[in-house]
Amino acid sequence: MTKQLYISTYGCQMNVYDSARMADILSPLGYQLTTDPNSADMAILNTCHIREKASEKTFSELGRLRNMRKSKEEAGNGEMVIAVAGCVAQAEGAEIMKRAPYVDMVFGPQSYHKLPQMLAEATRQSGGVLDTDFPVDAKFDHLPKEAIDKNLSAFLTVQEGCDKFCAFCVVPYTRGAEFSRTVDEIIDEAKRMIDGGTREITLLGQNVNAYHGLDAEGESQTLAELIYRLSELKDLQRLRYTTSHPLEMTEDLCQAHRDVDILMPYLHLPVQAGSDRILEAMNRRHTGDEYRRIIEKLRSYRPDLALSGDFIVGFPGETDAEFEDTMQLIRDVNYAQAYSFKYSPRPGTPAAALESQMIAEEVKSERLARLQALLNEQQLAFNKSFEGKTVPILLEREGKREGQLIGRSPYMQSVYVQSPPHRIGRIAEVIVEEGNANSLRGKLKPGSEQDAA
Ligand code: SAH
Ligand code: SF4
Ligand code: F3S
Repeated sequence: MTKQLYISTYGCQMNVYDSARMADILSPLGYQLTTDPNSADMAILNTCHIREKASEKTFSELGRLRNMRKSKEEAGNGEMVIAVAGCVAQAEGAEIMKRAPYVDMVFGPQSYHKLPQMLAEATRQSGGVLDTDFPVDAKFDHLPKEAIDKNLSAFLTVQEGCDKFCAFCVVPYTRGAEFSRTVDEIIDEAKRMIDGGTREITLLGQNVNAYHGLDAEGESQTLAELIYRLSELKDLQRLRYTTSHPLEMTEDLCQAHRDVDILMPYLHLPVQAGSDRILEAMNRRHTGDEYRRIIEKLRSYRPDLALSGDFIVGFPGETDAEFEDTMQLIRDVNYAQAYSFKYSPRPGTPAAALESQMIAEEVKSERLARLQALLNEQQLAFNKSFEGKTVPILLEREGKREGQLIGRSPYMQSVYVQSPPHRIGRIAEVIVEEGNANSLRGKLKPGSEQDAA
């Protein structure tokens, strides 16, 4: 009998990837994904601990699920297993069991390959299962071969965890130490993805450019070397990687942006702040100018490289002048896209102990608004600069409007194109008619009928 599986995912791409793998693992047990939590036989919250707001959602959503379970059971529609996965589970597992004792399972990002076993234990009503170990044997060794992303544009986790310990960040605690999968394992997974129809692969890692996986000879390989290997795979048309740390933008990786055709000209390279004093307090271990020089080098190799970043405003002790340094850095770099956040103190991180230097909420809000206005301006100008240009677009899916497809440009822009649906899966030459704040709109270039299948 099929059972309904509901998964609610918060946080980064890694969580999105993990949620899909959990669904893969549960599928042989008869679980089928549903978008309706009311009918779920099992509900998993895949949580994020990165900022307070993200973390708090766990408890409010758990409350909602508890009510749904009650209604379902009262209506005689069977039980609902409630599980908490992800980074809040890892960081606050015991707390969740205490505050929400009705939860059946709590497990961290390194334990989900044990789901079938945990599920068997939980349904024997042993009073809840808690698994937040960092196992010695990697979970990737235990994932079934079918557990891969088979989308046209798909993610492949190559590296997990982080040893950088930025002063504000929980990731090193929730995801553990850096771990790289082997080259062969990755190539093998990529081949199976491509056989399943994938044409664009984004290599995922919390610190993806710190990749140092072993090859068949037992030699440690860099991300650039992995990219060269992957670029030889037949039928792979696009390659990306995320998220990177400036300290790991090695010469070979920068050169790969010049030399590897299928490596897309878009890079998410967070800098967080522009002031050297704040960067040091954040333990980022580079200066604003060092970051600028990396960008210059990358652009000398790949002039059309589009950049994206992450920014934090209101880190403890950040003065007005230091905030202006961030604004200046943004002006100097000129971003195509970016994410920005108010600093949020996280339990257990060094920055959270700087209580006396916390910045007032209104100041943070005001800085964030100014910073986002600048970034939005840059993004709009970037998108507008495409008007009239012809750009290769990977057509991914149907849009909401009749006859409309949505695709992506090499620079990660979403592009709306009038096109018949049979073109999904192809790269089409598109003339951009309009560049908007968050997307482009265009039409197929006449005569691009025979574009590569
Ligand atoms: N591994 C990636 C992303 C980490 S989390 C990296 O190193 O860049 C994504 C972003 O969330 C970070 O880049 C940072 O901008 C933001 N972030 C992390 N901790 C935060 C905190 N305590 N408060 C506000 N923003 C935070
Ligand atoms: Fe967090 Fe810094 Fe690691 Fe990124 S590099 S995950 S911000 S500790
Ligand atoms: Fe959040 Fe964990 Fe990702 S804290 S951002 S889900 S690594």
